[in-house]
Amino acid sequence: MAELRVRGTDTVLTDPTLIKDFVRGYGLDYEVWNIEKLHTEAAKAVQAETEQQRILTIFADEIEALKERGGYLSADVISLTPATPNLDTLLAKFDKEHEHDEDEVRFVVDGRGIFTIHAPDDRVFDVEVHPGDLLVVPKGTWHWFDLCEDKTIKCIRVFESAGGWVAHYRS
Ligand SMILES: [Fe+2]
Repeated sequence: MAELRVRGTDTVLTDPTLIKDFVRGYGLDYEVWNIEKLHTEAAKAVQAETEQQRILTIFADEIEALKERGGYLSADVISLTPATPNLDTLLAKFDKEHEHDEDEVRFVVDGRGIFTIHAPDDRVFDVEVHPGDLLVVPKGTWHWFDLCEDKTIKCIRVFESAGGWVAHYRS
């Protein structure tokens, strides 16, 4: 489960309820989904052409609820590892401060990563997300994202439009 660290302070939150309350103050949403669903007998029986489709099928109910709540239209699964071609180029799009016109919605299936939020009150906090964590960074929120040392993450992404968002960078 996630760990939230407020930069320049000793504040570290690991309790999901406290994390949810903290990020809600800045308009973000955080929740924990049952990641064990991936490993149940029912999950193993899911027939799908690809691992991505299997994951989307297993979490179909959660994704539908999210779409209804946030008006999102589509979902996919992204997987990054040290073997991903042009990984550094891909990461360079996310690891600079930016915002976009769409919410950024991520559910971590495997691996981990760090969303850093630069709040309007100039507080900067890191949310390190782990398997089972859903984070919604609302449109217009200044933030950036980076992988951890293992450079590995697998996430469900949920989008408002089929084309996905376009980042605006802070100069
Ligand atoms: Fe972003």
